[in-house]
Amino acid sequence: MKAVIFDLDGVIVSTDELQYRAWKHMADREGIPFNWEINNRLRGISRRDSLEIILENSSKTYDEQQKMELITFKNDYYVKLLDGLTQDNILPNVMELLKKLKSDGVKIAVGSGSKNAKKILDKTGLSNVFDAIVDGTEIKHSKPDPEVFLLAAAKLHEKPENCIVVEDAKAGIQAAKMANMIAVGVSDARNSELADYKVDDILEVVDIVRELS
Ligand code: G6P
Ligand code: MG
Repeated sequence: MKAVIFDLDGVIVSTDELQYRAWKHMADREGIPFNWEINNRLRGISRRDSLEIILENSSKTYDEQQKMELITFKNDYYVKLLDGLTQDNILPNVMELLKKLKSDGVKIAVGSGSKNAKKILDKTGLSNVFDAIVDGTEIKHSKPDPEVFLLAAAKLHEKPENCIVVEDAKAGIQAAKMANMIAVGVSDARNSELADYKVDDILEVVDIVRELS
């Protein structure tokens, strides 16, 4: 194993909590039921696909223009929440993991579907930590499509089969397997049947990489 590609939201940074708050803000305004169970279905997928899932619980029909307004309303609120991000929002043991991987000579990358990824990395002081970054502005197809991870491997000059993906989303685990990579599930992705490994503590990724090398 030569490289580890990390999802960002919910793996590196606790922005999954902020995503929840922003969608809830929009859903409450519209009177649409929304909870963590529904939110978990939004992990890893695009804004547009997320909105369609939320609207499954709406009694009202929205046209395309109204849908775009809902997405803008949610994203504006989300971006304001992101302004409050600091290094303290980096999830437990992540910095130690990244340091250990680097000292083992393993390359590290971010593979995120978020168009806000650069801002998140900037606010948390992680902009210069990774060997490669791919975000939602660079891809045509969001997870479960493998595009984001294949592009990350290409930027690292590594073959997909030499890469491990760490994900909190079932859609991300699917994307990793479609990319022919090893998939490690954390958080909600521990429920994924496709995950090759499921870990409670992200530091376990060090042992997985060593075992497979
Ligand atoms: C990540 C999150 C998703 C989010 C997507 C797009 O994959 O897990 O919940 O919908 O990024 O994020 P964005 O910040 O561009 O709306
Ligand atoms: Mg995620």
